Amino acid sequence: MNNKIKIASLVTLLVVVTLVITSFKNKETKVKDSEYVQEVLALLGDNKPLHYISANQLDSVKVEQGKNLVHLGLTDPTNKTLFENKQSKHFVCTDCHNTQKEDPDLSISNPDTRLTYVAHKNMKFLPGTTLYGTANKSHWYNEDYFKKYGDLVVPARDTLQNAIQLCAVVCSQGRALDDNEMESMMHYFTSIGYKIKDLNLTESEKEIIGNALQKNSKNSLVIKLIKSKYLDYSPATFMKPQSIENRTFGKEGNEYRGKQIYELSCLTCHKEGGVTNYKLNDEQLTFKHLKYWSNTHKVFSVYDITRKGTYSKNGYKPYMPNYTKERLSDQQLDDLMKYINLMADKETMFKGTGTPGF
Ligand code: HEC
Ligand code: HEC
Repeated sequence: MNNKIKIASLVTLLVVVTLVITSFKNKETKVKDSEYVQEVLALLGDNKPLHYISANQLDSVKVEQGKNLVHLGLTDPTNKTLFENKQSKHFVCTDCHNTQKEDPDLSISNPDTRLTYVAHKNMKFLPGTTLYGTANKSHWYNEDYFKKYGDLVVPARDTLQNAIQLCAVVCSQGRALDDNEMESMMHYFTSIGYKIKDLNLTESEKEIIGNALQKNSKNSLVIKLIKSKYLDYSPATFMKPQSIENRTFGKEGNEYRGKQIYELSCLTCHKEGGVTNYKLNDEQLTFKHLKYWSNTHKVFSVYDITRKGTYSKNGYKPYMPNYTKERLSDQQLDDLMKYINLMADKETMFKGTGTPGF
């Protein structure tokens, strides 16, 4: 073999080896989809929130107890004596909050994309923000909740534990959590914190984050990049009920979306066995009743009730939370109205065919 060929093959070999090494390295350095966002931020030198629990400190027994508390109102459903002291006699947290991801893009709070997403996943469409990723937020009870409830909300604004206590007593109409329950809930909320996979990162962004993690030093730019992928608070705009003249009564509505709203939102509380005495169902009489009141400002008007909610009274604690603009848009209200009208009038619409509307 002459020298030229030798050198050429050596160079080729070197190139191949470098390529193999770099591709291997790239694979290794990409941040993993399964990593908790909060954990990655802490490793990059971000300030840890007060409620921070690192992934390796997560206690599976406490996670389970916290999960039971949120879904059932007590830490251990097999312990009969705990039933007496359920967190609330009227609600469980999941009457108003989901516990899974509910927005396809976590940097936007949009009730339209949310409805499509939750309907696809067989989840509910609720007035409270999902508790998935609540541990990744830095503010709770935001904007209009703060404007309207000022003093009540101040301690809950910046501390997750206080936000939970406020909701336990005021939203759930129950008692505050004791220290053990609160600790369990923190473990549960950490376990349902955002993971890297939830952020819709590109492969090269994952590589940037992975590389930064290997350097083991504070990296504000990468922290910023990660935080740009989700909102660290849940926006909340209160709406006044539309004036009667401005109501379109479903004219511009989409009945399929309306049906989704009725079933995934209203019925979750108003069905037989739900949290309220005021029952809604799929009978025509129910829709006729809702249609009848819709052009008034009375409590049975869906325009009014959704924007104002109800208040709990002494002797009757269950109440209905108002829907903010971010949780139910005016367009969605119109969709709901379209469905209500169609179901109220269905014998005229489908006369003679015997085919129900849906
Ligand atoms: C009757 C309905 C209802 C029940 C029951 C309820 N909540 Fe809430 N909760 C709300 C509403 C409405 C808000 C207002 C802010 C939001 O979630 O968008 C809220 C806010 C919160 C927040 C702050 C969310 C944020 O991002 O601003 C937390 C945390 C919370 N609730 C936890 C709980 C826990 C834990 C329970 C059970 C012990 C519970 N809630 C029960 C309706 C409810
Ligand atoms: C988180 C639970 C919850 C959700 C979701 C909910 N409601 Fe309610 N709603 C209540 C409670 C509790 C009351 C209080 C009245 C009662 O229990 O008798 C109420 C009251 C009402 C009332 C007035 C009845 C009265 O007796 O004062 C109407 C009308 C109503 N809801 C319609 C709706 C519609 C339409 C939707 C869907 C857009 C909806 N609700 C979603 C819990 C809920």
